[in-house]
Amino acid sequence: MDFSPALNSVLDTVERWRKADCYPLFPVVTEAGPTRARVRTADGGQWPVTVFASADYLGLSGLPCVGRGAAAAVERFGTGAYGAQSVGGFTTLHESLEAVVADYFGRPAALLFPTGMQANIGVLATLAGPRDTVLVDSLDHGSIVMGARLSGARVLTFRHNDPGHLAELLRGTGGPGRRIVVVDGLFSADGDLAALREITELTTEHGALVVVDEAHSAGALGERGRGAADHLGVLDRVDVITGTFSKALVSTGGFVCADERLVDLLRHSAGAYLMTLGPPPAAVGATLAAFAVLREEGDERRARLARTARSLRERLTAAGVGIAASTAHVVTVPIGPVDRTARIARRLIAHGLMVAPLFPPAVPIGGARLRLGVTAAHTPEDVDLAVRLIADALAEEPA
Ligand SMILES: Cc1ncc(COP(=O)(O)O)c(C=O)c1O
Repeated sequence: MDFSPALNSVLDTVERWRKADCYPLFPVVTEAGPTRARVRTADGGQWPVTVFASADYLGLSGLPCVGRGAAAAVERFGTGAYGAQSVGGFTTLHESLEAVVADYFGRPAALLFPTGMQANIGVLATLAGPRDTVLVDSLDHGSIVMGARLSGARVLTFRHNDPGHLAELLRGTGGPGRRIVVVDGLFSADGDLAALREITELTTEHGALVVVDEAHSAGALGERGRGAADHLGVLDRVDVITGTFSKALVSTGGFVCADERLVDLLRHSAGAYLMTLGPPPAAVGATLAAFAVLREEGDERRARLARTARSLRERLTAAGVGIAASTAHVVTVPIGPVDRTARIARRLIAHGLMVAPLFPPAVPIGGARLRLGVTAAHTPEDVDLAVRLIADALAEEPA
């Protein structure tokens, strides 16, 4: 089969990695410890591989009560979703979770999507239209950009976390259409927080809407874990919140929180909601149980997470490892070339450390990097190991 030069270069890269024995993706996990911070993989089979690639930020995976939440849901409603939410797939668990999520973020209403990616696509493709302009940060998650493009709106990209550039674009785009600014609350590519105080000042001044994707921050940042906007004191200035249960809430499923009219509109018109299934009951049962743990233990777990993340950032810097502008529990090590990044990630896993290598198009061309997700389950020894292995790998893998 023939492909375009750009697609052929993807296959060329994969083949080059396989030949050089440095293919760094899809490690097969064969066994997990009591938390997801330790696993065994098919490749080498060593125990443990310490995982800094997961988004189990609060260390909830493996908690028996979360597993019981999933099991009870299966017992009651079976394993499948059994139909779109609008025609039979909506259970009392889905109804409860909508209420929990809306209450958690202090919004009138919420809606559940099968994934966080679909939540972003659904909300943007519905909210924006051809007369509108969607302004995205250059490091926004790909699902935000997909949703913006699908909407048919004009899509403008501002420089990463640069409110001055956003202001310039807002000044240059008046007219009858809506303007919608969309950012990750905590950027998955650099680990820094969106400049939401400045951004919400600008959206208020220019009459624009602001959508914040709290995928990496829901549960993990802010008072009671209400996310980056809450952490920065501007939650009430955000129009729409999206996010996922696949990270700190150790399940799967996406959500949107907004006013009742927008949620009702999404419920009855968003293709990414109506033309697919909702999260299955087991996922919803696990998420409800994870929210219950957050209510009891969230503060303590968030404090531990913040301490461990600070220690990792400080220790990497002290060891001479450059990190991006990370200020929270996502810590990224810029590498640059894809092949060096692949070799380093592969070497790390062989030595017992799993991190997430990020390659274009998830990050800009030339900007491949390693992403480390810290969790409240990591110990000081895990941090020591990560720092030592990463510093060694950078020293030993030629640029
Ligand atoms: C910022 C951001 N938004 C959305 C998503 C998509 O979430 P999900 O994995 O639930 O599709 C991700 C995740 O992978 C993400 O990093």
